[in-house]
Amino acid sequence: MVKLTGLKKIKTAVFISGNGSNLKNLIKFSKKKNSPISIDLIFSNTSKAKGLRFSNQFNIRKYVSSFKNYKTAEVKILNLLNKESIKFICLAGFMKILSKNFIKKFSGKIVNIHPSLLPKYKGLDTHIKAIQNKDKVAGCTVHFVTAKLDSGKIILQKEVKISKKDTYTSLAKKVLRQEHKLYPAAIKKVFN
Ligand code: GRF
Repeated sequence: MVKLTGLKKIKTAVFISGNGSNLKNLIKFSKKKNSPISIDLIFSNTSKAKGLRFSNQFNIRKYVSSFKNYKTAEVKILNLLNKESIKFICLAGFMKILSKNFIKKFSGKIVNIHPSLLPKYKGLDTHIKAIQNKDKVAGCTVHFVTAKLDSGKIILQKEVKISKKDTYTSLAKKVLRQEHKLYPAAIKKVFN
């Protein structure tokens, strides 16, 4: 576990690729007194990520670098993270897979939120799979990131009931609402 040293908040980067609702939620959480982290950098692999707008809104530095050549991209990001003294990374809808080398450099300091009850439904299309399989519950998981996709140690999970009326979209909305509660709680757990 990562230990909180002193009273300073841990400088954190959030990696996104899309809407950034978890990013916005984490930024709001980070401003609370009881948050162990501050959000100091937003990274995206695409300039199309809607969540990048929170950079202006909350005055947080943003950085975009395509992962077309992931080695070059990762070297650039690692340099920036170093320069900005970033000590913790939250993946929030980040659609690229980080290399073993990158993860090693931030070993035990990268967490991810995944929209299923891991180890069930690693990878993409979790809600479609849950509906197709007529599951009774879905949910979300915050876990440490390791070189194996969606397989690191689980920090917290939250179940969400699937009703007969649920569609992929309604389920995704229900789960996302829970993600917004789960991610801050998991971060508090990591630093306690
Ligand atoms: C969330 O469902 C998250 O669990 C998954 O991607 C989605 C990102 O949503 N990894 P947002 O960009 O935070 O709104």
